[in-house]
Amino acid sequence: MVKKEYQIIANNFELAGRASSDIKKTLKALEYSKAMIKRICAASYESEINVVIHSVGGYMTFEIINDYVELNIYDDGPGIFDIQLAMTEGYSTANRIANTNGFGAGMGLTNMKRLSDVMEINSDQFGTHIRLIFVVGDLDALS
Ligand SMILES: Nc1ncnc2c1ncn2[C@@H]1O[C@H](COP(=O)(O)OP(=O)(O)OP(=O)(O)O)[C@@H](O)[C@H]1O
Ligand SMILES: [Mg+2]
Repeated sequence: MVKKEYQIIANNFELAGRASSDIKKTLKALEYSKAMIKRICAASYESEINVVIHSVGGYMTFEIINDYVELNIYDDGPGIFDIQLAMTEGYSTANRIANTNGFGAGMGLTNMKRLSDVMEINSDQFGTHIRLIFVVGDLDALS
């Protein structure tokens, strides 16, 4: 069993991706398949960037529990105004600074949904909590 926690700082593009890199390193050391690592780290990266560009800061927990990996991402406000709309491909409220850094295509949440086996979003004006579960599946064992 593994449990790690990472702080995510709003608007800090230099440190963005740090949590995902450490998760990748940990999963590699534990000999998870490339496919499983890619799935988890692409999703964790998207969620990390969302905290950086859309919130005032937060943190992510990374846990390995038996045959699944769980990520929980918490941030402080302003929250996702309309979750269904936010889940639409191409919808984005990212600002110009985020755009300049290469973000804001409106694909992050959609990709997280596709990459994970379970995705739960809870959000109000005080903040957002996203829970992601990744189960080692048949496809994950192939590469
Ligand atoms: N943690 C969050 N807090 C507040 N709003 C959020 C948060 N995450 C996502 N959103 C809202 O949902 C929209 C869609 O998010 P999504 O990650 O799909 O796209 P994006 O971050 O705008 O662009 P991309 O992920 O492609 O760089 C965001 O533009 C934002 O309005
Ligand atoms: Mg995003």
